[in-house]
Amino acid sequence: MRLLSHLSGSAGLASLLLAHFAEPAPTAADVRGFFTWLDNVQQAKTPALELDFPDPSIVEGPNQWYAFATASNGKRVQYATAPEPSGPWTYVDQDLLSDAGSWTNQVDVWAPDVRMVDDGTYVLYYTAALASNTSIHCLGVATADSIEGPYQVDDEPWHCDADRGGSIDSSGFVDDDGSRYVAYKIDANSLGNGGSCDNTIPPIISTPIMLQQVAGDGITKIGAAMEILDRTDADGPLVEAPNIIKSSSGTYVLFYSSHCFTSTEYNVLYATASNVKGPYTRSANALLETDMFALTSPGGGTSTVGEDRNVMLFHANCEGVGGSNRCMYVSNFTETGTNILANR
Ligand SMILES: *[C@@H]1O[C@H](CO)[C@@H](O)[C@H](O)[C@H]1NC(C)=O
Repeated sequence: MRLLSHLSGSAGLASLLLAHFAEPAPTAADVRGFFTWLDNVQQAKTPALELDFPDPSIVEGPNQWYAFATASNGKRVQYATAPEPSGPWTYVDQDLLSDAGSWTNQVDVWAPDVRMVDDGTYVLYYTAALASNTSIHCLGVATADSIEGPYQVDDEPWHCDADRGGSIDSSGFVDDDGSRYVAYKIDANSLGNGGSCDNTIPPIISTPIMLQQVAGDGITKIGAAMEILDRTDADGPLVEAPNIIKSSSGTYVLFYSSHCFTSTEYNVLYATASNVKGPYTRSANALLETDMFALTSPGGGTSTVGEDRNVMLFHANCEGVGGSNRCMYVSNFTETGTNILANR
């Protein structure tokens, strides 16, 4: 699987059309607006990793693919490897991050994401609870020469927004021209007035998804972070877990989750834009929601960009090792071009 970004527009279109005709016709239920789930609906029903592996991210390493996940199973940052994004995925019984930094409580490390930066080294973006107040989570960065570490932390938060409840769920993106960004969420529902994820009792607080441009090192900030999406009443307490890709037709796609992760309303939604900075238009359709493919509370979706198909890693509730967990699932999809968009 190679990134399509190298191809010219017309070559990209040709391969998209070829890919489209080569695929079996999807059933109507598989069409989710801009995207269509492919023939592996059965695959999506079976966890790719049958243990607690929430908020997965995916990146291509030198020899194989890597998935990273929220702290569980006695590790701050969990990871797994596979020969292809679609799998098979093998859990690595090792903690990728031995030290989350003295600013953290060293335990609650969430939603890690790794990206190779311009000089060929790696940056690990992660969320952690503040040592000084564990109800506030902020973003940290760590760097390594090798994708498997050892990772050295920058011993201060990278983005905190503590006065707004914290920052979580950082995810890197590099555009065709080499410009880099990190999307994340202002964790303002942590300051909410109660209810589901603390933010369904009025006054409801904004939980915007932000975009921070960064330099070639993936860390140095360029300008201020800008808001690219916020919750609406249809989203319940929040939007979170952003992941940006540039699709094979050149459209920027922002995947995100809405509602509380503990609720069966948790989902994977998406919005599209012609510029990475937006404005983003929300899809009328959820990409994943409870009862699709027999899933419960799917969320935290992260996608590759494929020449003929995208592979999405996400979590959903499961009965894994040690009881009820959020297992990692994998499925692939393609662009239909049927761009059914609406402002949800
Ligand atoms: C921790 O942060 C929360 C949210 O800002 C605040 O309500 C609480 O008072 C803080 N706790 C301490 C001990 O400072």
